[in-house]
Amino acid sequence: MCLNLFNQKAKAWDKKPNRLVLAEKFAKCIRQSVVKQGFSTAFEYGCGTGNVSLYLQDCFDKVVLADSSIGMIDEAQRKIEAQNIQHFYPKLLDLEKEDYPYSFDAIYTLMTLHHVKDVSYVIRKLSKMLNLGGMLFIGDLVPEDGDFHSYPENQEVHYGFNKSFIDDLFKQNNLKTIKYHVFHEITKEHTGISKVYPIFTANAIKIQ
Ligand SMILES: C[S@@+](CC[C@H](N)C(=O)[O-])C[C@H]1O[C@@H](n2cnc3c(N)ncnc32)[C@H](O)[C@@H]1O
Repeated sequence: MCLNLFNQKAKAWDKKPNRLVLAEKFAKCIRQSVVKQGFSTAFEYGCGTGNVSLYLQDCFDKVVLADSSIGMIDEAQRKIEAQNIQHFYPKLLDLEKEDYPYSFDAIYTLMTLHHVKDVSYVIRKLSKMLNLGGMLFIGDLVPEDGDFHSYPENQEVHYGFNKSFIDDLFKQNNLKTIKYHVFHEITKEHTGISKVYPIFTANAIKIQ
């Protein structure tokens, strides 16, 4: 989806309750590991309006919320100020175009990688931004046949990622897979017929 569309959609993003449910369930998948590991810093890539990080706000001392859409970053900033959260730092950033020279204990990204052109390149950068022993968490579409996004948006996205693709990406980037499992389903209506799209979470630990 082009940047303009995310800018246009940002203000109404949270009006769809299923987006909040997905973010909350993804945050639940992350919470147990980050608390157990005692992580203190986190980076969210493709934060949108910040929902995942907001659900995890008690888990970290510092969270950078990054997104390439200024509309999304403005919405995240507005919510951070409204809740008077002092340890969240919104950042306009596209790792396909620039670097971010800081490192973190935990990195998470929800429903963003399928919008990124060069997924391997971005995973390489995210892995470099992880501290040794840190963890990467991905939430995204299981492979689908291309109608999750409607035409012409679907011409610019990936149609999901399977476990072996994710395992290979992790292996190539000094990340050891901990798990890949389906944790949610999104249902959409197409001309009166409901179709279910499973969403996976995969996580990995930085080993070198
Ligand atoms: C489907 S939305 C998901 C937003 C949020 N993670 C959520 O689940 O509500 C995808 C987000 O990724 C952002 N995005 C897309 N391509 C990006 C890129 N190359 N770098 C950073 N953010 C990107 C978009 O601006 C958008 O906010």
